[in-house]
Amino acid sequence: MNIYVVTGAASGIGAATAQLLRSRGHRVIGVDRSAGERIDVRADLSAPAGRAEAASRIRELAPQIDGIVACAGIGGGTDTDTALLVSINYFGATELIERLRPGIRAGGAVVVLASNSITSSPAYPAHLARVLLRGDEARARAVAGRFHGALAYPASKAALAWWVRRHAADWARDGIRLNAVAPGLTTTPLIAERREDRLFGDRLDAYPSALGREGRPEEVAEVIAFTLSEQASLVVGTTIIVDGGTDALENPYRP
Ligand code: NAI
Repeated sequence: MNIYVVTGAASGIGAATAQLLRSRGHRVIGVDRSAGERIDVRADLSAPAGRAEAASRIRELAPQIDGIVACAGIGGGTDTDTALLVSINYFGATELIERLRPGIRAGGAVVVLASNSITSSPAYPAHLARVLLRGDEARARAVAGRFHGALAYPASKAALAWWVRRHAADWARDGIRLNAVAPGLTTTPLIAERREDRLFGDRLDAYPSALGREGRPEEVAEVIAFTLSEQASLVVGTTIIVDGGTDALENPYRP
C-alpha cells in the first residue's frame, strides 16, 4: 500500500484518480478547496498561505508519502481571471510539490496535469510560460493579466510540462520520478463550465478527436496511476498526451 496526495480530488480527473488508487489498495490524501466526502485537507491552493497550510496538514496526516498527483486547476475562458489562473494552475501545483518533496520516499513519483492544449494551441504565449518558470508569482500574475484565458491556460500548462523536464534529473537523483499527463477534452465539470463560455463555448463540439468522442476522467486516471506505478520506472521527465488522438490529428508531422 502506497500513500498518495491528490489535489483537486473533489471533482473530475482528481476524483477519478483518487477512487482508482483507493480501489487498488492505496491510501489517498485528498486535497481540494471544495468540501467532499473523501477530502482530507480543505485548502485554497491559489495563494502561498493556502499551500503552506495544506503542506503542513498533509505532513501531519502522513510524514512520508509515495507520490503526488496535482490535479487542482481551472479552465481558461473569456471571463477568467488569468492572474488567478496561473496562481492555481502553476504555483498551486509546483509550490505544493516542492514543499512536500522532503517527505516523498525514494521510489516515489509525481504527476502534474498539463493539457494537450500545449500542442493544439500553437499560438499560446511562450513568454508567459517562461515567466512562470522563473518562480516570481507577483510578476507572473501581472504578465498573465494581459492575456485572454484561452491563451493563459495553455501557457500555464506548458510551464508545468517544462517545469517537469527541468527538474526531472535533479529529482531522479533522490529516486523520485517527475512526469506530466496531458489530457485532451475530458468530460468533467471544468469542461461543462467551458461550454458556457459566451465566445468559445460552441466551438468545443468541433474539437477534433480520432475517437470522435470526449475522454472520460477514468481513462485519464488509468494513465496517471500507471505513471505513478513501478511499472513506469523508466518514464521520467516527460509529458504523456492522453487525448483520443487530437494531437495526432492536429500535428501529423510531430513525433
Ligand atoms: P474539475 O473542475 O472537475 O476539478 C478541478 C478540481 O480542482 C475541483 O475539485 C476544484 O475544486 C479544484 N480546485 C480548483 N481551484 C482550486 C484551488 N484554488 N485550491 C484547491 N483546489 C482547487 O477539473 P478537471 O477537468 O478534473 O481538471 C483536472 C486537471 O486536469 C486540471 O488541472 C485541468 O486543467 C486539467 N485538464 C483537464 C482537461 C479536461 O478536458 N477536463 C483537459 C486538460 C487538462
